[in-house]
Amino acid sequence: MEFQDEFEQILLTEEEINQKVKSLGVQLTEDYRDKNPLLVGVLRGCVTFMADLMREIEVPVELDFLSVASYGQSAFTSGVVRVLKDLSEDVDGRHVILIEDIVDSGLTLNYLINYLNGRNPASIATCVLLDKPYRREVDVKADYVGFEVPDKFLVGYGLDYAQKYRNLPYVATLKDNAIEEE
Ligand code: IMP
Ligand code: MG
Repeated sequence: MEFQDEFEQILLTEEEINQKVKSLGVQLTEDYRDKNPLLVGVLRGCVTFMADLMREIEVPVELDFLSVASYGQSAFTSGVVRVLKDLSEDVDGRHVILIEDIVDSGLTLNYLINYLNGRNPASIATCVLLDKPYRREVDVKADYVGFEVPDKFLVGYGLDYAQKYRNLPYVATLKDNAIEEE
């Protein structure tokens, strides 16, 4: 897809992302032998990352998804997390790997870890492609992290701004003037 005016720069190229996803797959393959993990993707941002990552995991996995609302249309957190679509599988006794596109304030990840813990899994790990560690509001750290990224609004490879740009094969920074404050 062509570079667009509203982008500032390409932060992570397709090649860089592919390399990282491969190495995360190697780690997960080692850590989850004989565990038949349940990959739980957080819709919709997870889809690209999860689709690529699962093909780099060389042990059997199962998939499930949930969907939460935290930001609405805005680029700024409302601090409110709400489950919009729940899991289809029973996580009781399962080794769950929660797959997210990005962790910023940590509110979403923290909420989901607690939410899943309430359903008695054998273990929960979190795997995020991107980590923005600067604006944490809760002390949460992902177990598997692709890249630490600057405190800028990012789009592409699943990440959206007002539902746009998810289909970019790279991650780009949006110009500040492309983001509308509420
Ligand atoms: P948190 O709850 O503040 O950690 O935010 C997590 C969610 O906010 C992610 O799952 C994303 O959907 C969204 N988000 C945070 N930063 C960005 C960004 O730079 N671009 C697009 N979405 C983002
Ligand atoms: Mg998300």
